Amino acid sequence: MEKLLWDTKKYNYKSVNEDKECDVLIVGGGITGVSLAYYLKDYNEKVILIERNKIGGATTMRSTAKLTHLQQDIALKIYKSYGFFKSKEYIDAQVDATFEIVNIIKKNHIRCNLEKNTSFLYINNKKYVDKLRDLYELYDKFGYKPYYCKIPNVNCYLSFAVDNSYVFHPLLYINGLLSCLKNSNVSIYEKTSMINYFKINKKFVVMLDNGYKITCKHLVFANHYLPFVFPYLLPFRNYLETSNVTVSKSNNLFYNAINLDKDDESIRFFKDYKINVSNSKKLSNNSILYNKDFSWNNYDLMTFHGLPLIGRIRRDENIYIASGFNTWGMTNSNIAARIISSLIVNKENKLCKVFNSRYKFSLYAFIRFIKYNIIQIVNYISSYFKRSDEAKIIYVDGKRCGVYIDKSGKKHTVSITCPHMKCSLQFNNVKKTWDCPCHGSEFDVDGNLLRGPSVKCIKKSISNE
Ligand SMILES: Cc1cc2nc3c(=O)[nH]c(=O)nc-3n(C[C@H](O)[C@H](O)[C@H](O)COP(=O)(O)OP(=O)(O)OC[C@H]3O[C@@H](n4cnc5c(N)ncnc54)[C@H](O)[C@@H]3O)c2cc1C
Ligand code: FES
Repeated sequence: MEKLLWDTKKYNYKSVNEDKECDVLIVGGGITGVSLAYYLKDYNEKVILIERNKIGGATTMRSTAKLTHLQQDIALKIYKSYGFFKSKEYIDAQVDATFEIVNIIKKNHIRCNLEKNTSFLYINNKKYVDKLRDLYELYDKFGYKPYYCKIPNVNCYLSFAVDNSYVFHPLLYINGLLSCLKNSNVSIYEKTSMINYFKINKKFVVMLDNGYKITCKHLVFANHYLPFVFPYLLPFRNYLETSNVTVSKSNNLFYNAINLDKDDESIRFFKDYKINVSNSKKLSNNSILYNKDFSWNNYDLMTFHGLPLIGRIRRDENIYIASGFNTWGMTNSNIAARIISSLIVNKENKLCKVFNSRYKFSLYAFIRFIKYNIIQIVNYISSYFKRSDEAKIIYVDGKRCGVYIDKSGKKHTVSITCPHMKCSLQFNNVKKTWDCPCHGSEFDVDGNLLRGPSVKCIKKSISNE
């Protein structure tokens, strides 16, 4: 079972229990949705935010919450995709968002364990020296004064650092933003899931899982991953990165460090804990992971060019997306909130020229896209043949079903075809969930939807005596 470190919740909200109408509907109550609600509170728009489970309880609660502009090799990916100026604009925006978040915390007296620290980027393997040096040079040219120096208590081949980073507690930050929304124009609902939407006369009608509907002028998808195959085939154009996070006792050292050799490996400290992230291509079977003080796994939506997807989905339509944060959603959620709130209230914002939901063609990104999708096709096919020690695959009326037998001997039988795009689900022996290898939807043993782009549960296919 996962043991989460940031599991702190201050507020409970009711679910929607009647049809509603509003100016802006925000779907998703992670850091992105709540940040957007925070920026919209100063305007006259009537805002509703709906959250499928509990506020902050999905990706945000599983983040390591570093606020830094030294974001692994993102600057290099953007440089290779769109050149120096775009890369600089992106990093400048991250610095700006960090200061903006720090200002919000100070202005509203939010107690969220904010600490200033130094960010390191390091390599263990000599073969990545050129890549590290390229990144050093880029940060130097951007004007952020990187310096080569050793990381306290870490043996590595080479590392450099930049100053002015921060770390915080993501759920305490969200709690602080929610406190600012009391008695405002924003209404928040939990245990309320959007299952579909359609457009009637310039308004959007959003259908909820409990049969009610919300009509709105502006519809914002802050739900981490668009559930739909359309528009523009989002699941094929982006990919998921899954990481394991483990937490063990340690003295607090005031730095965070990111490994460049391996995708998404990092260290940060929180009080008397050290938080380690390691990349995991496997979704399950890592028992060592679950013997730590706290541990969990998490995923984020990645883009091939390195830029997040923020803004209107289609030009001239009031429907917006904030996703593809490439594991840097603490700062990018703030950027998304400022851009989307500006678009909604028709206010100029220079960030709108930097970020987009559809960037122009890039050869570098296209080559990464082709390579990734070849791997995806192999994964898709092999997911049909993967077996688990704890769950059996059976056929009921020609349909593939999974059977898990719990400790009391009770059978839990579900369809194991993912409702999102029909990938075959795999049983996660550690978490006792059915996980989708394609885009990360997760279901419990009885088929209830826990996370992911799917909006449907997986049905029990036969009786479970
Ligand atoms: C291991 C790891 C470490 C990370 N560390 C960092 C870090 O150090 N710094 C950093 O900047 N970023 C980090 N990130 C990235 C960051 O955590 C995420 O980008 C960010 O939390 C995404 O927030 P979100 O609000 O967009 O998504 P979420 O927190 O997932 O929120 C989306 C919400 O939408 C809800 N939802 C989904 N579908 C529906 C629906 N149909 N109806 C209603 N609600 C719905 C979900 O329940 C969820 O609560 C890390 C990511 C990973 C994987
Ligand atoms: S096919 Fe996309 S989440 Fe399962």
